[in-house]
Order: sequence, then C-alpha cells, then structure tokens
Amino acid sequence: MATKALMDMMNRAIARELQVAIQYMWQHVLWSGTKGFAVKDELKNIGVAEMKHAEAIAERLVYLGGNPTTKPEPIFVGKGLKDMLVQDKKDEEGAIKLYKQIIAAARKEEDETTKKMFQGILADEEEHHDTFTSLLEGL
Ligand SMILES: [Fe+2]
Ligand SMILES: [Fe+2]
Repeated sequence: MATKALMDMMNRAIARELQVAIQYMWQHVLWSGTKGFAVKDELKNIGVAEMKHAEAIAERLVYLGGNPTTKPEPIFVGKGLKDMLVQDKKDEEGAIKLYKQIIAAARKEEDETTKKMFQGILADEEEHHDTFTSLLEGL
C-alpha cells in the first residue's frame, strides 16, 4: 500500500498528463504558418505519449488502491507558436520537478515498481523538454 501523500502526488501527475495530452493535441490541430508546419507532427507525437503516461500512472494508482482523477489541470493552447512552446517548455519543467519528487517518495516507501515507472516517464519528459527547447531556439 502506498501512502496518501504518494497517491495524491500521482493524481497531480495524472491531472498534468491529461492537461498536456489535450494541450499538445490542440496545438497540433491549430498550428499555422511555415514554422508551425515543422512542429505539428512533433506536437501530435508528444501528445500521444502524454496520454500513455496518464494511462500508465492511472493503472498503477488503481493497483495501489487510489482513485484516478478525470480532471485535467488548466489547458493552455496559446496564440502563436512561440506562445505555445514557451508554455509547453514550462509544463515539461513542472512535470520533471514533480516526477523527481514522486521517485524520491516511492524510493522511501520501497515501492520499486512505481519508482521505476516514473524513472521511465521522467526520461520521456526530459526528452520533451529538450525538444521544446530546441524548437524555441529555432524560432
Ligand atoms: Fe508525460
Ligand atoms: Fe512531456
């Protein structure tokens, strides 16, 4: 059994994952201009990856006895490409920070599976952060 503190953090993770899954997908749909053309597929792929994260975390939370939230954090679509990417980069930074806290908590609770799962997800978020950083530099 996980502590309530760990399960609450996992629910915050799910809310964030649901947010960015929708956010990136809508940014993908609403892209415009030549520069937008170059990033729209990337946004779609990352959006799909975030939905898979939400699913994996929710499954784990249910296994631990928790109740996964259906409510995303506020979704930010943005007006221009730069607007979008600045926010996306920030959201990845927020995820990286939270997932490091979850990994530390899971380690403390000797929950090896949750720890490993979030280490894998953290690696994905670092890659997304790197992608958004590079795309912003290219604008
Ligand atoms: Fe994610
Ligand atoms: Fe991400």
